[in-house]
Amino acid sequence: MAKRLFIKTFGCQMNVYDSARMADVLAPFGFERDERPDDADLVILNTCHIREKAAEKVFSELGRLRRLKQARAQRGERMLLAVAGCVAQAEGEAVLRRAPFVDIVLGPQTYHRLPEMVERVSRGGRAVLDTEFPDEPKFDFLPEARAEGSNAFLAIQEGCDRFCSYCVVPYTRGAEYCRPAEAVLAEARALATQGVRELTLLGQNVNAWQAGPEWDLAALLTALAAIDGIERLRYVTSHPRDLGESLIAAHRDLPELMPFLHLPVQSGSDRILRAMNRGHDRDEYRRLADRLRAARPDLALSSDFIVGFPGETDRDFQDTLDLVAEIGFVQTYSFKYSPRPGTPAAALPDQLPDAVKEARLAELQALLHRQTEAFNQACVGREMAVLLDRPGKYADQLLGRSPYMQPVHVRAPGRRIGEVVRLRIAAVHPNSLEAIPA
Ligand code: 5AD
Ligand code: SF4
Repeated sequence: MAKRLFIKTFGCQMNVYDSARMADVLAPFGFERDERPDDADLVILNTCHIREKAAEKVFSELGRLRRLKQARAQRGERMLLAVAGCVAQAEGEAVLRRAPFVDIVLGPQTYHRLPEMVERVSRGGRAVLDTEFPDEPKFDFLPEARAEGSNAFLAIQEGCDRFCSYCVVPYTRGAEYCRPAEAVLAEARALATQGVRELTLLGQNVNAWQAGPEWDLAALLTALAAIDGIERLRYVTSHPRDLGESLIAAHRDLPELMPFLHLPVQSGSDRILRAMNRGHDRDEYRRLADRLRAARPDLALSSDFIVGFPGETDRDFQDTLDLVAEIGFVQTYSFKYSPRPGTPAAALPDQLPDAVKEARLAELQALLHRQTEAFNQACVGREMAVLLDRPGKYADQLLGRSPYMQPVHVRAPGRRIGEVVRLRIAAVHPNSLEAIPA
């Protein structure tokens, strides 16, 4: 009999991928994914620990789920509650202390064991806690990935050895691990056979991927581009220090590689970059951007920023604003610095008041917003290849993504989902671009 599974995902794309893989792991045991938690037999919260706000959301969500669980219990039914992901990894036992009605707590490295954990608590066992970093990589135990639509994420690397001073990732996801090339290629082939046209390779430090002397990310992208059906490639998230000559050349040589790169710089101030332990300064970042654009002139860059890092002065912040304008980022994610337990930056003196962070964030976001707008406007009249991936509101309308991830809608009778079509951008709407057949 089918059992209902509801997964709520917080945080990054790696978590979106992990959630899909957890569903794949549970499918052979009769679990089908549901859109709502109300009647679920198993609810998984796949959590994020990157900022305090993200971590706290989990506990308010758990409060709501507790009531659903009680309501089901009154009907004589059982809802199992699992907390997965980075909050589970970082807080472990503490999750069970704060929310004793939780049945399973599992870290990002043990979800291949989910069926076993579910089985154990179903038999009436006590809550299960599994936040180990097992010797055997979970990837070896996952069933074949099931595709949903024309785009897919594919995790090729996990964990991080960079230890930026503000970041919990090296602690929650562990040391860098790279999947073998053959495993990645096999997963990509399976996805392509199921209709996937665009692959986004995932890793916390994805461009550090290396699997033996011949296999770096450029070689992997080249091999993936040769797979029948794969028309577009992206990779995320990259660290500037690990972006070498071969990858820059791949941007020149591989038409499948989209001209849009998320390459976080975090700050424009050399002093702050040093305190963040980023391993590069603003000038090195600038030169990298120049080399990438020389290789691929239509390349656009996006970035993450942290404002209000401990000790950040008005001058440092101005350096960030200047760099944003100079590089011309077209898309960004910016955050107020959030001190995370166990990270070196949390212990630094000179933590800034929230009001300062708030004001700087608003100023930075206003600038970034203007740049995104300007970029969208500059796209009007341009021809772009758009991957159609969803039906639109009207019968002959389809939605898709531009090479720059902009949502595009077009009236294109006779076109089908899964096709890459050349379109001319005709207008900019608040949340999308409108196109006409080219
Ligand atoms: N506070 C605020 N933002 C953070 N990020 C990582 N750690 C923190 C933190 N402690 C941001 C970085 C990173 C993105 C995923 O989250 O900008 O690139
Ligand atoms: Fe965190 Fe830095 Fe690693 Fe990115 S590179 S995951 S910010 S430690």
